[in-house]
Amino acid sequence: MRTLSAQFFKICTFFLVVIITTTAGLSIPSISKRDTVAKCPDNNFPVFVGSSCKTQHSMIVQCKNANTNARASHEQQCNQGENCVDFLLNDDVAFAMCVPVNKLLQWTNGNTDDEFCSGTIRFDSGASGDSISIGLNTYDTNGNPIQVFDMVEKVNNQQIGEVKNQHNFSQIYRNYNVHDIVTFCFIPGASDPHNPYYANKAIANAYIVRLSSIGGKDVQFTDIEPVISQNNTLYIEN
Ligand SMILES: *[C@@H]1O[C@H](CO)[C@@H](O)[C@H](O)[C@H]1NC(C)=O
Ligand SMILES: *[C@@H]1O[C@H](CO)[C@@H](O)[C@H](O)[C@H]1NC(C)=O
Repeated sequence: MRTLSAQFFKICTFFLVVIITTTAGLSIPSISKRDTVAKCPDNNFPVFVGSSCKTQHSMIVQCKNANTNARASHEQQCNQGENCVDFLLNDDVAFAMCVPVNKLLQWTNGNTDDEFCSGTIRFDSGASGDSISIGLNTYDTNGNPIQVFDMVEKVNNQQIGEVKNQHNFSQIYRNYNVHDIVTFCFIPGASDPHNPYYANKAIANAYIVRLSSIGGKDVQFTDIEPVISQNNTLYIEN
C-alpha cells in the first residue's frame, strides 16, 4: 500500500511537472503595462544621474541640479507586482527599473549549493543589430539583495560575461539580432562552506531591454514596451 501510494505520488508529480513546463513557455506579443522607471520629481534636482535597486521592490534614484551640479537621492517604490532589476543605460550610467514580475525570468536555487540556470528570453520583433541592456539581480526571501558566488550571462549559449560575489550583473550587449536567445546562470554563495548541499535561498530576476527604448543620456524614460518572448524553466520546490 505504501509503495503503491508512493508510486501514485510519483506519477502525479510527473504529470504536474509536465503540465507546468508545457504551460510555462510564455509568448508575449505586446505589452501594454509600462515598466516603472526612475523619476526626478524635485524641481531643484530635475536631472537624472543614476538609479540602482535598493530592495526587490524599491530603487535609489540620484538626481542633480544642472546649474549647480548639486545632487540628491531619494527612494522610489516599485508598483505592485513589479520587481527591481539593475541595468546600464550606457557604460557609465546605472539604470534600475521595476519590471512586472510576469515579464521577468525568475528562478531559484531552493536551498541547494549548485549552478542554477534560467529559462530563455529574447526579442521576437524590432530591428537587428541594436544594443540591449541585460540585467540580473538576486534577492533573498525577504526581498533584500543577496550576494551570490557566481553570475553568468549568455547569448545563444555563448558566455558573454561573468562576475563573482555580487548581487547584480548588468551589461550592454551590442549587435543583438532578433531571436537571439539570452540566458543566465548563478551559483549561490554557500552560507556553510563545509556543506555543499546547503546554501541560502536566492531568487534570481533577469530581464533584457533595448537601449533605444530607454533612451540615451538625459532622455526622459517614459515609454518602455519591449516585445519579448520568454521561456521560463520553473524551479519546482521539493
Ligand atoms: C549594482 O549594485 C550596486 C550596489 O547596490 C550599485 O552601486 C550599482 O549601481 C548596481 N547596478 C549596476 C548596474 O551595477
Ligand atoms: C525554449 O527553450 C528551449 C530549450 O532551451 C529552446 O530550444 C527553445 O528555442 C526556447 N524557446 C524560446 C521561445 O526561447
